[in-house]
Order: sequence, then C-alpha cells, then structure tokens
Amino acid sequence: MASLETGTFEDDPGDDSVELLRRHRESLFPSVGLFYDEPIELRRGEGQFVYDGAGRQYLDFFGGIATVSSGHAIPEINDPIKAQLDRITHSSTLFLIRSQIELAERIKAMTPPHLSRVFFTNSGTEANEAAFLITTLNRESNEIVALRHSYHGRSFATINASGQTPWRSSTLSPLHVHYVGNPYCYRCPWEKTYPSCDLLCARDVGAVIETTTSGNPAAFIAEPIQGVGGFITPPPEYFQEVQAILRRHGVPFIADEVQTGWGRLGAADFGFQAYGVEPDVVVFAKGLANGIPIGGLIATDELATAIRSLSLSTFGGNPIATTAALANLNYIATHNLRDNARRTGGYLIERLWELASRHQVIGDVRGMGLLVAIELVRDRRSKEPAPDLTSRVQDAAKERGLIVGRGGLHGNVLRICPPLIVTAADVDAATTILDAAFSVVMR
Ligand SMILES: Cc1ncc(COP(=O)(O)O)c(C=O)c1O
Repeated sequence: MASLETGTFEDDPGDDSVELLRRHRESLFPSVGLFYDEPIELRRGEGQFVYDGAGRQYLDFFGGIATVSSGHAIPEINDPIKAQLDRITHSSTLFLIRSQIELAERIKAMTPPHLSRVFFTNSGTEANEAAFLITTLNRESNEIVALRHSYHGRSFATINASGQTPWRSSTLSPLHVHYVGNPYCYRCPWEKTYPSCDLLCARDVGAVIETTTSGNPAAFIAEPIQGVGGFITPPPEYFQEVQAILRRHGVPFIADEVQTGWGRLGAADFGFQAYGVEPDVVVFAKGLANGIPIGGLIATDELATAIRSLSLSTFGGNPIATTAALANLNYIATHNLRDNARRTGGYLIERLWELASRHQVIGDVRGMGLLVAIELVRDRRSKEPAPDLTSRVQDAAKERGLIVGRGGLHGNVLRICPPLIVTAADVDAATTILDAAFSVVMR
C-alpha cells in the first residue's frame, strides 16, 4: 500500500520544490507544462514507487508516460548500463556498435519477417520523422492520412500529423495531412454504437483516400491505442478493416507503437499484433529502454532503401541506450511482464468499473493491458468533458500517494500506465486512493 513515508538519501537538498518551480518558470520554454497545482520533483524511484523532495513515497501509476516499463532502479537493467558506461559511452553510428546490432536483430525477431530494417533515433518524434521520410520518398508524395485525436510528436512535420489542436503549434508543415474520423466508441464521430455501427470509422479511411487525396498518399499512420489522445481504444476489427482498405489502395501502414510497444498491452509485444495486422513500418520509443532515451523504427526493405542520400543519427543506437534496451527486454521476458500486464491490467479495468458504479463523474473506462484510461464527464448523458474535476482528482490522488497521468483532447482523461511489474495489491491500493480522491472532489 502506498503511503506518505519519509525517506532520506545522500546529498538530498531537502524539499525545495517551490524554489525549483520558480527556476523552471524562469529558464524553460513556457510551452513545457507541469502536472499539479504544486508541481513536484520525483527525486528517486524503486520498482513501482517514487519519492519526492520531501521523501514522500508515491505509487507510480504513470511510469514517466508509459516509459519506465520494468520499474525504477532495477539492478538487472541498471548494472549492465553502468558496466557499459565504464567501457565506452559513445562512438557514433560511423562505427560498429555491438549492442545496436543485437537490438536490431532482437526487434526483427519480435516482428513479422517482412519488416527487416531498423533505424535508431533518440525519441518517438524523430522516429516518426524517419517514417514520414521513407514513405514520402518511396511514394513520391507528401500526403499522409492520419487519425483525429492522434499524437505523433512535436517536430515541424509530426505536429501537423497530430490531430489535436492544443498540440498543433504550427501547420506550416512539409506534409499534407488528411484526417479520418477516429475509432472513439465513447464519442463516435458518427454517433453510432459498436457493433451495429458497421465500423464506419474504418470505412472512412477509404472514403478519405478516394475523395480528399491525389489518390497516392505516402502512408496511413495510426497509434494502435491513442496515447496522448486519452488511450482511445479501437474496436477489435478496426485495424483489419483499415488494412484491407489500405492494401486495396496500395498505401503503406505506419503503426506508431511509441506508447503501445514492448508488452504493455499484455495481449502481445506490440499493438498491431494485438489487432492482428501487419504494418509496413513500426515506430517505437518510450518504454524500450526503461527510461533511457531511445527511439526507432523497423520497416520493409523497400521502404528502408528509399533513402538514397547519406543519413546518420549521431546518438541513434548509442551503446548506452541499446545496452539499456537489451537489458530491459530481457527483464520483461524473464519476468513474464507481458503476462502480468494482461492479468493485472484486466484486474485494474474491473476495479475501475466498480469505481464507475459509485462515481457518476466517470463516463468511460477503457484500455488494454496496463494502458488504461478513465474519462471524466460532468454528466453521463451529455458527456460534457470535466477537465477541472480531472485535474482535481489527479491532485487529490497525489496528496494520497498515487501518481496518475492526465490527457485527452479536453484534458479530462486520467491516464494509467504503471511499470509492468505492478501487482494486484498495487491495483487495490491505487483504486482505494482513487476512490477517496473521487469522493473528496465530488463532495
Ligand atoms: C504515440 C506517440 N508518438 C510519438 C510521440 C513522440 O515521442 P517523443 O516525445 O519521444 O518525441 C509520443 C509522445 O508522447 C507518442 O505518444
């Protein structure tokens, strides 16, 4: 059970979060937001727990945005990283990097055989940029088909392929993006109900290609479950229907697995496998190295060879990042964390529906494995988003020792994506805290 315990550790400057916040506001881009009315520093972590500057312990049900996949300070992951630090930190992609090659082979073994070429980057944004580069070069087209409510990164091209106005700081992009209605059953763009909807959302992909593009879009991009959008989880047949349409039109499919990869969904290593489809490009980042920066993509040989000029990434596939990734993948495999994500995530969803029976503000609970969302509404009939209540519940949970995330187009979705090691007892502790947080906010 998470509690507000005080712990001490060496070189601890004490609780200076107010001063840190002042310095943050003075020196960082104002566009970089912070959680909470009173933001905190997470100064230390251990397994599924984190500690702030005052030494308070929290159960971490956010994992640094679905990134700390195996837990904090796991010796089996950190020891190989420390050993690699002492051997060599960096050499650049102009030299052979053993761990980079091993990781590429490992990723090939986890994905279908038609995906044969890997390129490593430092972030999900850069990986999506590379996916756009190879598909637009291959098809000699700058047209992309994307989903509304998507998020694919913060760079010049990727923000324009992200279907959420609050994140779109510029539309002066090299890409011409066509948006399709997303498979958001709770707020169906066609106001239909699954399964009698006949998957209009999937059929919209064909309609958009046929009516709004030149007929030759470079690619269709989608997150198997939309992350920043609020863990919007398409119906089971959605991607199979979409893939059939894409194949009819000869359009490559980019699966952005930045939040959904590496067993988090429980059902499979990647979201595309959980949905029974075979993309032409798979983009990954976040959880691969348990918090050490890394990103990348795996693509077909044809797409990977579309780059005919020289290309490199100074840090891409760096020895530290790829050693961390290999150790993390080993940890996930040897501890059956994918199975744990399926079991514990299923239990979490059950417990959250119980909460929904007591708290009318919960409009929807959704997700897969340990990528789970609670959508808050002012009233279940109108489904009016309740962002103010959402941030108050998030704050109240923090005060009681639980970290959860927040997102969604309107900021009214609590996002739960803990390290994959969490137990049923952790879920009980987290849902007890959430129950109290909902009660206090709705009082
Ligand atoms: C699905 C998805 N794609 C891409 C990105 C961008 O990744 P990064 O922040 O590492 O650049 C994110 C980040 O949240 C994401 O969720």
